[in-house]
Amino acid sequence: MTSVNEKDATLSNLLHEDRKFPPSPEFAAQANGKADLYTQAQDDRLGFWAQQAKNLDWETDFTEVLDWSNAPFAQWFVGGTLNVAYNCVDRHVEAGYGDQVAIRFEGEPGDQRNVTYQDLMNEVSQAANALEALGIKAGDRVAIYMPMIPEAVVAMLACARVGAPHSVVFAGFSAEALRSRIEDADAKLVITADGQNRRGSVMSLKPAVDEAVAASPSIENVLVVKRTGHEVAWGDKDMWWHDFVGQQSTEHTPVAFDSEHPLFILYTSGTTGKPKGILHTTGGYLTQATYTHKMVFDLKPDTDVYWCTADIGWVTGHSYIVYGPLANRVTQVIYEGTPDSPAKDRWWDIIERHGVTLLYTAPTAIRTFMKWGDELPQSHDLSSLRLLGSVGEPINPEAWMWYRDVIGGNNCPIIDTWWQTETGAMMISPLPGVTATKPGSAMGALPGIGIAVVNDAGEPLGNGSGGFLVLTEPWPAMLRGIWGDNQRFVDTYWSRWPQYYFAGDGAKLDEDGAIWLLGRVDDVMNVSGHRISTTEVESALVSHPSVAEAAVVGASDETTGQGIVAFVILRGGHSEDASAEDYIQELRNHVAKEIGPIAKPRQILIVPELPKTRSGKILRRLLQDVAENRSVGDSTTLADPTVMNLISAGLAAAPSDD
Ligand code: PRX
Repeated sequence: MTSVNEKDATLSNLLHEDRKFPPSPEFAAQANGKADLYTQAQDDRLGFWAQQAKNLDWETDFTEVLDWSNAPFAQWFVGGTLNVAYNCVDRHVEAGYGDQVAIRFEGEPGDQRNVTYQDLMNEVSQAANALEALGIKAGDRVAIYMPMIPEAVVAMLACARVGAPHSVVFAGFSAEALRSRIEDADAKLVITADGQNRRGSVMSLKPAVDEAVAASPSIENVLVVKRTGHEVAWGDKDMWWHDFVGQQSTEHTPVAFDSEHPLFILYTSGTTGKPKGILHTTGGYLTQATYTHKMVFDLKPDTDVYWCTADIGWVTGHSYIVYGPLANRVTQVIYEGTPDSPAKDRWWDIIERHGVTLLYTAPTAIRTFMKWGDELPQSHDLSSLRLLGSVGEPINPEAWMWYRDVIGGNNCPIIDTWWQTETGAMMISPLPGVTATKPGSAMGALPGIGIAVVNDAGEPLGNGSGGFLVLTEPWPAMLRGIWGDNQRFVDTYWSRWPQYYFAGDGAKLDEDGAIWLLGRVDDVMNVSGHRISTTEVESALVSHPSVAEAAVVGASDETTGQGIVAFVILRGGHSEDASAEDYIQELRNHVAKEIGPIAKPRQILIVPELPKTRSGKILRRLLQDVAENRSVGDSTTLADPTVMNLISAGLAAAPSDD
């Protein structure tokens, strides 16, 4: 969507900013990751990864590190077998850490619960027994649609323990989004909750599940955690978690699975309307999630209190709440609710009370807090913090500096981590004890990872140039395919330059070779760190009976990174109410119902025409100019050169909906 050339202009200004923040000598001295990691990985990349894999507990050792003979379908740690849940839970109990708190849960209403590794082992075992009692076998798919409560982690680990790939669907998504994901994965079971606490009130989850399950013949049972306790409808397939899981034995013997056994499917947006089920497997995924979590967060399991504010519905929740951290024996905070409940200092209050040392969040949150003012964090003692991480979208230098100054007290390394649902784990990031960071830059590839910035012809560019970000070497946590659609996997990621994985992001190398991410170059928007495809929102709009055609762009937004702006042509007979505010609101709500509230357009503009090329392709670049209030760029390829005038004229008449 964003053209690399347009972004270059913004970037050249950034380059005048030459502040650098090396780690303090004290931090560097105690860091898990030292400079020799880079040399080790350079000297023997596969040997380096084998070394990282050996930090896990393998039931059977692997015989080969990487089989790339069937590229781009990789096999990592060939012949090895292991159980992910055993690695995340049991082995810590066996090593004598059963009393260590794994999860410090805090509900939005203020309820608290500590879950030790022993508790977690008991609960995961009970849930694994429950899954087996319901006939779930290795390879069967389980859909999880849950709030941020400990049972969500337990459910994921129980699936991993019995080898049933989970498909976690973000609980903010609609019934239809859940239904289509259940159908695509052919899931047998849904694990959910009655509701969740959001912004001071109860938000029901069960009705969306009921609606999805009614239209999903593959679902045999629904397990429901009682979280909010409000009245919910009850059907034949429904079972309360506390009844059914609660009555199971706390003993369960984990079975080791092949390193390439599917661990989970996670749906993400692509350039077509159909969500992609990104497939991750066992040994390679866990190796890289664990290694990056330990090195990039510098985790000290005996003393750190870690908090990743993501939701388990996103990949960050998978890799950096569940798998990497627990494999590293973390103590972590899990918080159910929103940052403004009961007041806008809730996060700072949590950090102070729990003594959080490592914080991982997203630029959209940081920018929101900047807007809310320095007084809120400053009214709390945040001195426990020793490292701050960022993920999900480019972090602008101003937000980076604010994060460092106001939250980190100028005392914490800032770790800007670039990765994707598809990469499974971090790929580009500073090492906090090694890298001198620049505000706004993700700096460089982690040890063991190969990246390049290439031009259209796929030729690697040198320092000072911008182009497309590619990954040059297979990596352990890489996706193994798109569920049920291997051709789409090859076409999407490996066809533009067959020797490289194409991430869909633009990037620039500065004069020192530091990497600056420039956003998506395809038709995928990034709203508050969440990927939403323009096509998906367009399809949702066109499914409204009054809409003939829609074009959607991501326009830069001060808080959310990008905001969704929709240009809509109405069907004949619907033009009278086009300017009515409640009509626009109805369209926005329609999108929320079809996809989920995160996909609600920020603005909907009713237009008489859309700018198209002679071959009928919508020129979104021109619409983006309009959405970002710029003068419209080169329109010479338009089939009808007057159409942009028409759009501008129409805009003058249509109200904006901010
Ligand atoms: O455009 C990049 C952006 O988020 C995309 C991946 O989104 P998703 O699969 O939802 O995963 C998000 C969490 C890992 C990327 O293609 N992105 C992610 N991290 C960064 C980023 N852009 C710039 N800087 C980052 N640190």
